Amino acid sequence: MAEPSQMIELLRSRRTIHNFTAEVPPIQLIEEAVEAARWAPNHHHTEPWHFFLLGPNAISRIVNLNASLVAAKKGEEAGEAKRKRWSEVPGWLVVTCDRSDDALRQEEDYAACCCAVQNLSLALWAHGVGVKWTTGDVTRHPELFQLLGVDANRHRSVGILWYGYPAEVPVQKRKPVDEILTAVD
Ligand SMILES: Cc1cc2nc3c(=O)[nH]c(=O)nc-3n(C[C@H](O)[C@H](O)[C@H](O)COP(=O)(O)O)c2cc1C
Repeated sequence: MAEPSQMIELLRSRRTIHNFTAEVPPIQLIEEAVEAARWAPNHHHTEPWHFFLLGPNAISRIVNLNASLVAAKKGEEAGEAKRKRWSEVPGWLVVTCDRSDDALRQEEDYAACCCAVQNLSLALWAHGVGVKWTTGDVTRHPELFQLLGVDANRHRSVGILWYGYPAEVPVQKRKPVDEILTAVD
């Protein structure tokens, strides 16, 4: 078991990584991270998550789809800039969550999936691999579900996770603890 201080430092030091080196992390790290992800807390043990590890064909379809969505909104040049940037991302996962007709269960299942994403991110961060969780328009697009072979009526997108070795680690700040912690007698 890791020292508490090491564990807390892992939590504190994890950052969303926007820029990666070209090196693709080994698949064993992804398998280990998904293994860790599934131990997230989850009410009623529904295990509502699914992880899709994308290969070159799926990645290029998403890159093209996103470039066309951006081009339609912001023009060709912006679309091409996105295509170039997204083409350079070394690793891609998509996470989905089972849908439910029960609103409370849906909310709790989505919460569990978010916990799973955090487990996955921290498991990778422990190996120096960074993640960016994205929830832009492309992550809800019907074509994304189609290329994953997923029925959008039965599963919702939690997001796309980019992963790789950080080219840089951004600095972030948070509100002080006394602003967010209230003791109630
Ligand atoms: C549900 C969720 C969706 C997110 N979607 C995006 C996104 O679409 N684009 C983005 O740049 N960052 C996205 N992020 C990452 C946040 O921007 C990031 O967590 C925040 O800036 C704090 O930085 P940190 O993760 O390094 O602490 C998302 C984070 C969460 C939890």
